[in-house]
Amino acid sequence: MQDPAGGERRPRRLPAMGFSIILLLCVIGLSQAAIEKIFNGTECVPHSQPWQVGLFEGTQLRCGGVLIDRRWVLTAAHCNGSRYWVRLGEHSLSGLDWTEQIRRSGFSATHPGYHGAQHSHDHDLRLLRLGLPIRITHSVQPLPLPTSCVEAGTRCHISGWGTTNHPWSPFPDRLQCLSLSIVPDTTCQDVFPGRITGNMVCAGGVAGADACQGDSGGPLVCDGVLQGLVSWGSVGPCGQDGIPGVYTKICNYVGWIKTVMRNN
Ligand code: ARG
Repeated sequence: MQDPAGGERRPRRLPAMGFSIILLLCVIGLSQAAIEKIFNGTECVPHSQPWQVGLFEGTQLRCGGVLIDRRWVLTAAHCNGSRYWVRLGEHSLSGLDWTEQIRRSGFSATHPGYHGAQHSHDHDLRLLRLGLPIRITHSVQPLPLPTSCVEAGTRCHISGWGTTNHPWSPFPDRLQCLSLSIVPDTTCQDVFPGRITGNMVCAGGVAGADACQGDSGGPLVCDGVLQGLVSWGSVGPCGQDGIPGVYTKICNYVGWIKTVMRNN
């Protein structure tokens, strides 16, 4: 893929900075148990999801996220840490891929309609601005926002380092990918009566085809654009047959996202 931004090129950063990033990665890597493999997801082709972001507090993975611009990451509003280490260009979290870029999140904007997961999960999205813009490479690239909403039945995929079999089993070391289909709103409303708003899109609902804890804020990608963010789902084990995962419906928010990016 090509550099879509084309725009300004930054001067090469000091070698010392590269070195300190490598050092940091080694420390982080050693502290992470190298445990593979989550249920039903499969390891992504390395760097095939160059927009995938890991949000960390120290060495703890808190959430996923999506790079949508050289300076902006989209995640779920319930990923409400104040400042994250934003890790991009990752595949193996413990190993050095030589493609990593690390940024600190600074300014953020939670959607003003979000009133907490307890309330309704409605408007579950948050924009994070990176301290420094990323360098666009083969392994770090923004994902386009949608120009229309997605239809039921569309094949899409999700990715993340969250667990996919059981809420608190260990996180996998390598990025996991899973393809699934968009579920009709009516089906999803039957599963979660009174809880599905027009700002949610459901996907999966086939045994094993689900996101899970740690995947939140990560992308639901359909036809090469961002259609959802991992938001919520079944209580108890993820990936139960007949229970879809629920995603923030991004096509409803393109205007808000662009306004926040423009004004900040
Ligand atoms: N809220 C979870 C997180 O913070 C994501 C849960 C998604 N669950 C599901 N069954 N799809 O990581």
